Amino acid sequence: MVRLSMGCGGALTAPRVVLTAGHCVTGPGEDTSIEVIAGVTNLKSGRAIKAKSVTVVRPAEFVSETGGDDWALIKLDRKLDLPILEISSGGADETGTQTILGWGNTREGSMQQETKLRFGSVRIVPDGPCAKAYKKIVDLVEDEMICAAAPGVDSCQGDSGGPMVRQLARGKWVQVGIVSWGLGCAREGYPGVYTQVSKFRSDIREAARKLS
Ligand code: ARG
Repeated sequence: MVRLSMGCGGALTAPRVVLTAGHCVTGPGEDTSIEVIAGVTNLKSGRAIKAKSVTVVRPAEFVSETGGDDWALIKLDRKLDLPILEISSGGADETGTQTILGWGNTREGSMQQETKLRFGSVRIVPDGPCAKAYKKIVDLVEDEMICAAAPGVDSCQGDSGGPMVRQLARGKWVQVGIVSWGLGCAREGYPGVYTQVSKFRSDIREAARKLS
């Protein structure tokens, strides 16, 4: 898990590539403006590993977070000697309890970002009920989005781009989602919406391979 200077999260998907949300970056192409903090939970730690962006890849289809395709890759100026987070291929990973994490707001309307990484547990909400919850506001792109919620627990502003992860039976973690959007934060009846990364797994892997 990494922190990005524009105020988003991300995950190391290859030693030199960060996976984040499409809406966290300004577009594809050369971009040397993003600063990356990795390898720590406390952003002020002296052990923080710092890197900078070189280029950004974002699907041409991306328009805004509620339209789907909300993912992007950031190529770093060097390889980081840190574990990478694998992308789930879907199936049973996309059920049950998930962990969300980030340095974003701890409640809706708060203006403050956190120095220490926070995490919480949420449960997958099926597409049907999630689409119904948001029907009046926006049409859920069901095959590109996955929803999750728990009472009083949600991702929030500043958590975007960070991973939603699931721990497999063998103890290994896989990435199931990317924090994307929601109405407010932790509002009853309005789940958090995440990019369903299994849908983009081969595109992301292919793009990451080309960047490496
Ligand atoms: N779009 C937000 C960001 O840029 C993330 C919002 C997630 N909201 C939610 N209720 N889960 O940081």
